[in-house]
Amino acid sequence: MIITRTKKDLKRYLKLIKDAGKTTGFVPTMGALHKGHLSLTECSGKDNDFTVVSIFVNPTQFNNKDDLKRYPRDEEKDLALLLSVSCDIVFIPSVEEMYPEEDKRTFDFNGLDEVMEGKYRKGHFNGVAQVVSKLFEIVKPDRAYFGRKDFQQAAIIKYLTDNYLSDLNIEIKVCDIIREDDGLAMSSRNTLLTEEQRKSAALISKTLKKYTGNYKNYSTEELIKKITEEINEDPNLKVEYVDIVDDLSLETVSEIKPGKTTICVAVYDGNVRLIDNFPLK
Ligand code: PAJ
Repeated sequence: MIITRTKKDLKRYLKLIKDAGKTTGFVPTMGALHKGHLSLTECSGKDNDFTVVSIFVNPTQFNNKDDLKRYPRDEEKDLALLLSVSCDIVFIPSVEEMYPEEDKRTFDFNGLDEVMEGKYRKGHFNGVAQVVSKLFEIVKPDRAYFGRKDFQQAAIIKYLTDNYLSDLNIEIKVCDIIREDDGLAMSSRNTLLTEEQRKSAALISKTLKKYTGNYKNYSTEELIKKITEEINEDPNLKVEYVDIVDDLSLETVSEIKPGKTTICVAVYDGNVRLIDNFPLK
């Protein structure tokens, strides 16, 4: 496994791969890796000759300075984990390497960024698009891998690739959510939870699972109300939003179309913000 910290170095390796006619898969991450990230890396390994994983805590996507400051970082552990999966090159740039000058670009996502996370994390998706577009331009992969855990992010990345970066011809693959044994969606932020908050967190997926299993008995308003109330019953948890959305437009629906609709939530567990989603089949 090769570790690179500069664009120049990385491009040198990528040129060798391309000149040999081999394919490249790319997994962008912010580190503090867990089995969710590793599953994307394994998917890439199956589909491509070489896999590049990037680790970069992107400052432009944090609308909250404290969140950026306390975002978990553990490079040594990340590298050890990547050695256990099909990762060939790790790219770990500095902030100066990625942003030699301020990135002033703004992207239009045709409303996809105005709902759910976009309402509560102003500018977040613009920052994601800034860094992902830069990374895509550097790596120019054949395929890039994202998790369904960040459902809205995956939709926005697809839009970005189709509308701003279509000349790069990158295929976007969205992989399933990897969960802990008690159902909690794996997330780098889970490490910030106290033991008690960690126990409370299980109620989020438990409640979503319960109502996705029998959603036909309720209207969408009733579902949103019941899920919100049941999660909020735990004193550590505070729902920020529950939304039931169309998988493509991300617009709130009043009628569920099986296989085309998803329940998305954001919940504060203490001061740690967690998100999750379940498809309605
Ligand atoms: P990060 O939160 O590190 O996540 C990197 C990728 O791993 C994302 O595509 C995310 O959806 C996926 N992922 C996270 N938890 C997962 C889980 N439990 N199961 C499956 N996949 C999971 O998302 C980002 O970083 C950043 O916004 C980034 C795209 C790297 C841009 O900075």
